Amino acid sequence: MVLDQEVSKPIVAWRDVRKVYPSGLAALDGVTLEANAGEVLAILGTSGSGKTTLLKLVNRLFEPSSGTIEVRGKPTSDWDPIALRLSIGYVIQDVGLMPHLDILANVGLVLKLLGHPKPDREQRSQEVLKQVGLEPSRFAGLRPHQLSGGQRQRVGVARALAANPDLILMDEPFGALDPITRREIQAEFRDLQRRLKTTVIIVTHDIREACHIADRLALVDAGKLVQVGRAADFHDKPASDFVKSFFADAEAVVLESPR
Ligand SMILES: Nc1ncnc2c1ncn2[C@@H]1O[C@H](COP(=O)(O)OP(=O)(O)OP(=O)(O)O)[C@@H](O)[C@H]1O
Ligand SMILES: [Mg+2]
Repeated sequence: MVLDQEVSKPIVAWRDVRKVYPSGLAALDGVTLEANAGEVLAILGTSGSGKTTLLKLVNRLFEPSSGTIEVRGKPTSDWDPIALRLSIGYVIQDVGLMPHLDILANVGLVLKLLGHPKPDREQRSQEVLKQVGLEPSRFAGLRPHQLSGGQRQRVGVARALAANPDLILMDEPFGALDPITRREIQAEFRDLQRRLKTTVIIVTHDIREACHIADRLALVDAGKLVQVGRAADFHDKPASDFVKSFFADAEAVVLESPR
């Protein structure tokens, strides 16, 4: 689903968002942030800093305690949650494939929920499987458990791309992979994103991954946004000592970043 998008208009905007869990913990505390159409925005931060919470507010898996989140210019509270979710690709670390469905059916799941006829679903699913480097003649009929972790992760990406969404959310999508497979999939994904120009918001605590994939980085700490910008800005103009220490080990990586 490709919607008309003015270049200047953010596709996602968090505005003064606060999220307090029933335990009383403020997982997010006044976050204002935008993701622009066509960009890859990486959300970085240490464990428990609020990254997953930020993402789940976008597809209404969570509701904010205060503040608003706008998707394509409309507050999430005005979206039908199911329609919103079906319009956004979502890739998570353990992929969440259906074990009893073959790979083709897994990839076509969102298309099925959107009511696309079977022949169209199958054709499109084969197309996206090819895009992520999985030959349909070999993989389409297999079940998820017959694939390697890296292959399953590629299926997760294919499933997110299948309905041609203008927005994809990714939560540590490559976290469970060995470093070599991880770099390989990152590079492939980056190339694919640049061709498709899909907006991607990717949560990661891997600075190297963020610098290689993303146009801009957003660093969160204890529920607050600490700095947003290009990788080089974090190096040249760190907003605080926390930013400096977070990036201390990654200086070389930032400097070798392609963007
Ligand atoms: N459903 C929930 N109920 C209560 N507290 C929660 C819930 N989900 C998250 N939290 C808390 O909110 C804070 C932020 O969690 P979140 O999952 O957003 O962190 P994260 O940055 O994604 O961490 P990680 O890198 O470990 O995945 C944490 O302290 C967490 O324990
Ligand atoms: Mg998380």
